[in-house]
Amino acid sequence: MRTLNERTGLAAAIEAARLAGALMRANLNEPKKINASIQHDIKLDLDVRCQKLIETHLAAFDAAVFGEEGTSGDPAAEFRWVIDPIDGTVNFTYGIPHACVSIALQRRGKKNYETIAGVVYDPFCDELWTATNNTPAKLNGQKIAVSKKTRLDESIISMGFSKNVETMNEMLPRMNDIIYRVRKIRIMGSAALSMVYVASGRFDAYIEGGVRLWDIAAGGLILERAGGEYWHQQASPDETYRLVANNGLLRKKLAPKSK
Ligand code: IPD
Ligand code: CA
Repeated sequence: MRTLNERTGLAAAIEAARLAGALMRANLNEPKKINASIQHDIKLDLDVRCQKLIETHLAAFDAAVFGEEGTSGDPAAEFRWVIDPIDGTVNFTYGIPHACVSIALQRRGKKNYETIAGVVYDPFCDELWTATNNTPAKLNGQKIAVSKKTRLDESIISMGFSKNVETMNEMLPRMNDIIYRVRKIRIMGSAALSMVYVASGRFDAYIEGGVRLWDIAAGGLILERAGGEYWHQQASPDETYRLVANNGLLRKKLAPKSK
C-alpha cells in the first residue's frame, strides 16, 4: 500500500477527479442510462461508473470510502475518501455543463474526522480547485481568496434546495426573505461548485438546508483555506447538514430575520 497523507492524497485525488471528469465530458451530450428517478432527483449509471473509476484509482491507498454511490472498506480505518462522483447530476443529465467531481480525504480524529485534502473539478470549464489542511486554496494552481463583501445589497447568494419537500419548505421562506436584501440569488444545481465559487469570490455565500457530506467536504476545506467560513450543522445522523458557506463576513446578516 502507498503511504497516505495530505500531499500524496491530494495528488491521487486530482488524478482521479480528472479521470472521472473526462468521462463526464465525453458523455455530456450523449444519451444517458437512468438507474433511478424521482421527481426531484435522478441517479445515472454514469454516477456509478465515475465512482468506480475514482475508487479504482485510489485503491493503492489503505482507506475507506464514503461516497454518494456507495460506502466500502473498514469503517474504523484511519483515513476515508469522501466522494461525490458527479455533483450536479440533474444538470448533467439535461446536458447543462455545470457539474463537477468532488473528492475529500479525511483522517479520523478522537471525536470527528478532519478533512486534510480536497479537490473539486469542473470538467466543462477545466477548473480544478484544491487545498490541503496546510496549504492554500488554489484554482488551477493559483491562490484564491473569498470576497470582502460586507453588504448584502452588493452580494450574490447561491442557494440549494436538495431533493425533499422538508428542505424545500425550510428554504423557501429563507429565499423569500433574502431575495429582497441581496443583489442576486443564484440556484445553480451543484453544491460543491457553489462552495468553491464562494472560495473564489464569485459568490459571497451559499446556503442549503439539507446537504450530504459528499457534497460539501472537499469544498468546505477549500473554502476555509481561502479565508471563508464553512458553517455547517448536522441535521440528521446520516451526515446531512445545514450549511451557510460564506466569506466570513455575511453569516449573521443572512440569518432569518426572526432569529
Ligand atoms: C445535489 C446538488 C444540488 C444540491 C443537492 C445535492 P447531486 O447533488 O449538489 O445542487 O442542492 O443537495 O444533493 O445529487 O447532483 O450529486
Ligand atoms: Ca452531490
